[in-house]
Amino acid sequence: MTWKAIGIFDSGVGGLTVLKEIFKVLPQEDTIYLGDTARVPYGTKSPQTVTRYAHEITTFLLKRDIKILVAACNTVSAVCLDSLKNRFDIPIVGVIEPGARRAASITRSGKVGVIGTEGTIKSSAYTKAIKRINPGIEVLTLACPLFVPLAEEGWVDNEVARLTARTYLLGLKNAGVDTLVLGCTHYPILKEIIAEVMGKDVTLVDSAEETAHSVAEILAGSNLLRPSSEKGNRHYFVTDVPAGFIRVGNRFLGGKLGDVHQVSLESP
Ligand code: DGL
Repeated sequence: MTWKAIGIFDSGVGGLTVLKEIFKVLPQEDTIYLGDTARVPYGTKSPQTVTRYAHEITTFLLKRDIKILVAACNTVSAVCLDSLKNRFDIPIVGVIEPGARRAASITRSGKVGVIGTEGTIKSSAYTKAIKRINPGIEVLTLACPLFVPLAEEGWVDNEVARLTARTYLLGLKNAGVDTLVLGCTHYPILKEIIAEVMGKDVTLVDSAEETAHSVAEILAGSNLLRPSSEKGNRHYFVTDVPAGFIRVGNRFLGGKLGDVHQVSLESP
């Protein structure tokens, strides 16, 4: 029997933070990751443009026979998850709902911070999702666009990253949030520096783990889980030269990236 793969995508290396959790929860599954490195960042682009990119990538991944799609990008999840679900006939999982659920369940002060790209923050997707769960929670949001190029560059533990994090985050820290949602899949790559600035009283939430569990539940519910005795194959595609993706990806995944192929989304 041949088993279909899990398709997963982001604008660049950010979605690897979700893929890493999928590896932990579902090591038996084949995965196909696409990083749209030719067009990163998504967070500064209009919803129309991001929607077009997401549709093109989904079409590409469907040609490679996937059984479920993970939009491992908050910007895509915020601006066009419904449009993807309406157009494509496979299960599609985003990353906003899982992060919102986790934040709402752990805040004690009822004051939650959310950081993300301009697109995600402008959409208010997190504020709406958290308030649907608990309307009493106060949600403070902030766009931190410079975190994406820092993560793509692998500048995660130097003075530039530290100063950027302090400049963005001290206001949120001083406002008294006790929970901070990393509402962009690139941001967990900078987790250590973000944690250092926010201090030990603030819990950081990234939706990767919860998203991986949602994927497992959906596959189990539709009898699409591969037997756990199997070992998954991992495929990586990018839309520009792979060198930077390989360097940062290998660092993040502990040197286990394997081959990365450059593709054009128009090619069959
Ligand atoms: N990692 C993506 C997100 O979660 C996209 C970041 C970007 O390309 O601006 O929003």
